[in-house]
Amino acid sequence: MSKKPFTKIVGTGRAIPEKELTNFDLEKIVDTSDEWIRTRTGIETRHIIAEDQYTSDLGTEAALKALQDAKLTPEDLDVIIFATITGDVGFPATSIFVQKNIGAVNATAFDIQAACSGFIFGLDLADALITGKRAKTVLVIGGETLSRITDYSDRNTCVLFGDGAGAAVVQASDDDHGILATYTKSDGRLYELLKMEGLGTKNLPNDETWHKGFQYIEMAGRDVFKHAVTCMGDAAETILERAELGNEDIDWLIPHQANIRIMDATARRIKLPTEKVYINVNKYGNTSAASIPIAIDEMRKDGKLKEGDVAVLVAFGGGFTWASAAIRF
Ligand code: ACO
Repeated sequence: MSKKPFTKIVGTGRAIPEKELTNFDLEKIVDTSDEWIRTRTGIETRHIIAEDQYTSDLGTEAALKALQDAKLTPEDLDVIIFATITGDVGFPATSIFVQKNIGAVNATAFDIQAACSGFIFGLDLADALITGKRAKTVLVIGGETLSRITDYSDRNTCVLFGDGAGAAVVQASDDDHGILATYTKSDGRLYELLKMEGLGTKNLPNDETWHKGFQYIEMAGRDVFKHAVTCMGDAAETILERAELGNEDIDWLIPHQANIRIMDATARRIKLPTEKVYINVNKYGNTSAASIPIAIDEMRKDGKLKEGDVAVLVAFGGGFTWASAAIRF
């Protein structure tokens, strides 16, 4: 492996809203059942943000925990990258609110939008900044409040999504631990299959756009499912090639947590046994850009992800976008 220096995750944190919305709660809102949701998606419950909280609040909590974990202060940060599709306002960027909240006075803060792949896109950018010696300490956050753009009268989508945030602080490593390779990709030709038409400048909020439901996620579930399986499989294979790893070298697959069947299919594609696939979609639902950093933090804090473990991250989301990363922890 010739890539030097490596970019290492030195601290992680997560923020999960207190309020839960279980499958049984959803049974009372739409025509669905716990059994349908569990067997089709693997989801049992999800967490929903409080009315007076925003994506930046979750990002701030995750960021402070990640900094504490890394034994660093907000002043140490050179860059803050926030991956989200549910920012607080049109502008400024949600990362700007995090910068203000934590007092990261030396940082440059900006957002990126790559839907569910956003955290890996952010990590890829952070890796370029660190290895290119443009920054020493970068905070990458993935945070979403998807409940705010979910139509709770549409059973096709409302059972899937949850809120949360995860954050990782990265720095140059002095050994061979860190990001071994990254891969990002997008294809705009099929954007219609997964989108939110409103709240941008094309369809400004008015009675008509509100009535049409442009403020909500629209998804062709079956088509998205097929593309997710293909693209996440491709991304997983590509990252093994780029990092020059065999599947026997992989300790963990940490996939974007959208649907247990998509995750199983991705593992099968690179011939990994299911016990090497980290799954927490049952507890949080699909939290888009937040799902992978939440999983990494949970695994580190629970002692599942050990020093030296090699993990493959892989994601797919609206755009379409897809991405993967191989990391030696
Ligand atoms: N409860 C009960 N029935 C439902 C529900 C529900 N919540 N939702 C849909 N159904 C019905 C449908 O109406 C359909 O009924 P019909 O045949 O009478 O029309 C039936 O169940 C089967 O629908 P399918 O779409 O075939 O169900 P499928 O097995 O594909 O599962 C699902 C649907 C879970 C949405 C799946 O397609 C999926 O996970 N797609 C990927 C979506 C996703 O994860 N998107 C997030 C963003 S991208 C990403 O993160 C990867």
